[in-house]
Amino acid sequence: MPTPHNEAPVNGIAKTVLMPGDPRRSEFIAETFLEHRTLVNNVRGVMGITGTWKDVPVTVMASGMGIPSIGIYSWELYKEYDVDNIIRVGSAGGLQDNLKLLDVILAQGACTTSNYIENLGIHGFAPIADFTLLSAAKDAAKALGIDVHIGNILSSDNFYSAFDAGTEQNNKWKQMGVLGIEMEAAGLYANAAYFGKRALCICTVSDHLYRPEMLSAEERQLGFSQMITIALDTAAKMEELRLASLG
Ligand code: HPA
Repeated sequence: MPTPHNEAPVNGIAKTVLMPGDPRRSEFIAETFLEHRTLVNNVRGVMGITGTWKDVPVTVMASGMGIPSIGIYSWELYKEYDVDNIIRVGSAGGLQDNLKLLDVILAQGACTTSNYIENLGIHGFAPIADFTLLSAAKDAAKALGIDVHIGNILSSDNFYSAFDAGTEQNNKWKQMGVLGIEMEAAGLYANAAYFGKRALCICTVSDHLYRPEMLSAEERQLGFSQMITIALDTAAKMEELRLASLG
């Protein structure tokens, strides 16, 4: 059913959706990795494209930036389009000393400074990744020979606070073992839980909160491709499990 933010027909979206933040990345992922592509949603230019990876239907569509934005799109995908799995593929700022630029994080949990989950009428909920998705992604990474970090991240509501007044605050998140900071996962995980669906956030480390490092455009491309391949192989595995459960 089309919504104010999604014009795709209800059968136009696959059971697994990859969500980068950036619409241009959505288009890039579809063009680089998917076959048999159809543009199914371009309201606000989010580039929702359905195609196939290893013959498995997959949709890629941008989330925009921040929990309110991914909150809208993922809510509608789960509720109106009966999507089973959403895999966010994004970037994160590293907090731990052992994290290098381009490292891949599988976000087992997502702390947040956002009020989004309170607005669902619940206090103190701990947003976690779906374990089946998480273990499928871990297996996919291993098969691809890509090392991953698995642990907690922080979904922040303020991009600049981490760089600006936030050193003391960052120190505390770092002390608690939080791997990195991004801005969407906790909202996605909460929506998945709300609808009894599955979600996972995979992040590539794009900058480091304690070191002045930046990726070149070329490094970004290659590093992000590793994360996308993990996500797509995870989507293929989930389809295998879905078909097996149908008998
Ligand atoms: N903070 C929040 N979101 C981010 C960051 C960051 O440092 N890097 C990439 N996304």
